[in-house]
Amino acid sequence: MPLSRHPLATNVPGWAKVPIDRAAIDRLRASFDLLLADGSRLTAIFYAKLFERYPGVRALFPTDMRAQEGKLMDSLRAVVAHLEAPQGLQAELRAMGARHVKYGAKTEHYPLVRDLLIESMADAAGKGWSPELNAEWTQAISIVSDIMLEGAATVKPDQAS
Ligand code: HEM
Repeated sequence: MPLSRHPLATNVPGWAKVPIDRAAIDRLRASFDLLLADGSRLTAIFYAKLFERYPGVRALFPTDMRAQEGKLMDSLRAVVAHLEAPQGLQAELRAMGARHVKYGAKTEHYPLVRDLLIESMADAAGKGWSPELNAEWTQAISIVSDIMLEGAATVKPDQAS
């Protein structure tokens, strides 16, 4: 099998010349289209799980979650739209990571949120999900988290609250 890289992996040293896995782009996009068919289901499942497992974070979020649910889907939509040219999204993701410092998000929250998001995608997609999609989406959200955390690291402690 020829070597290929995850579509979002642009910053890995030495990987620049390794071709993007086009089939993975198609799989990520097709699975997201499936989730978009009922977009509110994914976010409803995700926030229900988040607040059930980590009740302490509820207070960080607005009381009315409707707008928040739309914003989360918009950010995932932007990720999927940029799979061929992820560099175009880096500044936005860094800025989003910097905003998250003020929201109270800590580095250790990111893998928990990522894993809950993937679990929620699997639940929302049902039979359309696969171990391959699980791995590719986990990698995608890990890369998004890493770029957000780069942005978070630029926030000085006295600007954090
Ligand atoms: C892949 C990781 C994540 C993505 C894609 C994401 C996405 C978003 C988006 C799009 C918003 C809307 C506001 C904005 O754009 O600034 C938001 C708000 C928020 N996020 Fe995240 N987020 C992530 C990780 C986290 C983590 C780890 C936490 C930790 C608890 C968190 C807590 C929050 C809170 C509390 C808000 C609401 C802020 C407010 O409206 O007052 N997020 N997130």
